[in-house]
Amino acid sequence: MTVPENMTRRALLVKLGILFNACVGTLLAIPIVRYLISPAVAGQKTPYQKWLALGPLTQFPEGQTRFATFTNPDIRPWDGKTAESACWVRRIDSDHLQVFAINCAHLGCPVRWFPQSGLFLCPCHGGAYYEDGSRASGPPERGLFEYPYKIQDGNLLIQAGELPTPGSPAASLQTIGKKLPCA
Ligand code: FES
Repeated sequence: MTVPENMTRRALLVKLGILFNACVGTLLAIPIVRYLISPAVAGQKTPYQKWLALGPLTQFPEGQTRFATFTNPDIRPWDGKTAESACWVRRIDSDHLQVFAINCAHLGCPVRWFPQSGLFLCPCHGGAYYEDGSRASGPPERGLFEYPYKIQDGNLLIQAGELPTPGSPAASLQTIGKKLPCA
C-alpha cells in the first residue's frame, strides 16, 4: 500500500480508523433506527395477519366437514411445498362455520376427520376430538385450535398465518363461545 506523499503514515491510519468506526457505527445504528421508527409502522398489517382465501363457500356443504388447504402468507421463495398448510372446515349452517387447525393440540400431528364416527383422530398418540373440535379423549389437554374466519363475496377467508399455540389468538377463539374445549 502506497501512502500519498503529503500524508504521513499516522494520518492515514487515523483516517482508516475513522472510516472503520463509521462503518461499524452505521451497522449498529440500523436496529436502533428500526426500533425507533417501529411505532410509526406498527399500524401496518404484517403478512401473517392477512386474510387467506380457502375457496368458494359452495365447496363446504352444510352439515359437513371438509379438508382445505391454503398458502402461508409469510413465505420465502425457497419454501416450496412447505408453504402449503391444511385445515378442516366444518360448516354448521349457512352462516356459521368452524375452521380447525390440522395440528393436534398435543404435539402437533395432523388430525384426520372420520365422518363415520364423527371424530377427529390423531394418529400419533390416539388423541380424539368431537366434531366441534372439543377434546374427546387421549393426551391432548384441550380442543383443536380454531382460526378466525369471515365470508366475503361468497368466499371463505381465514386468518391462519400465525401458528396456533396456547398463547395465540386462535387459542382464545373458543373461549369467546359458550364452552371451553378442554374436558
Ligand atoms: S400428537 Fe396427537 S395425541 Fe399426541
